Amino acid sequence: MERTLVIIKPDGVQRGLIGPIITRLERRGLKIITMKMIQMDYDLAKRHYAIHEGKPFYEKLLEYITSAPVVVMVVEGKEAIEVVRRTMGATNPMEAAPGTIRADYSLEIGRNLVHGSDGAETAAFEIPLFFNEDEILSYSRDTDRWIFE
Ligand code: RTP
Ligand code: MG
Repeated sequence: MERTLVIIKPDGVQRGLIGPIITRLERRGLKIITMKMIQMDYDLAKRHYAIHEGKPFYEKLLEYITSAPVVVMVVEGKEAIEVVRRTMGATNPMEAAPGTIRADYSLEIGRNLVHGSDGAETAAFEIPLFFNEDEILSYSRDTDRWIFE
């Protein structure tokens, strides 16, 4: 089982897309093991997106992600990192495959609705930025045997 950090970005919250985005993840069989709404401050945003420091879009990215509340969650499942990334679609919504969250609900790279960790190391770095281990729940679902072989 893998864990990954998902953020419904400010545009997702503002546009009333929390429900549809969560629905996409849930109906795939992914399990949400913690979730909260916060407004990221500049310091947290800088740490979360440290890898992009110095890139041309960095300042705008920090402005965007701190501009309004976000919903942040940890999602668990078999190969959850890759499954979430594929469910989200390509970074640039114009290039995202139809049926993905970004393709179906967004148009521009700077307003692409969701974040998902891009690898195991990234997930392990990002999750503790937002959650203490005691905030992350461990539970089983009776439906798991109908989702996982
Ligand atoms: P994310 O980290 O938000 O899940 O997105 P990602 O992995 O698909 O893309 P990444 O390369 O990590 O970029 C982080 C976010 O920065 C914005 N961005 N803008 N204008 C640009 O060229 C540009 N490139 C990236 C996007 O909001 C992207 O999600
Ligand atoms: Mg990324």
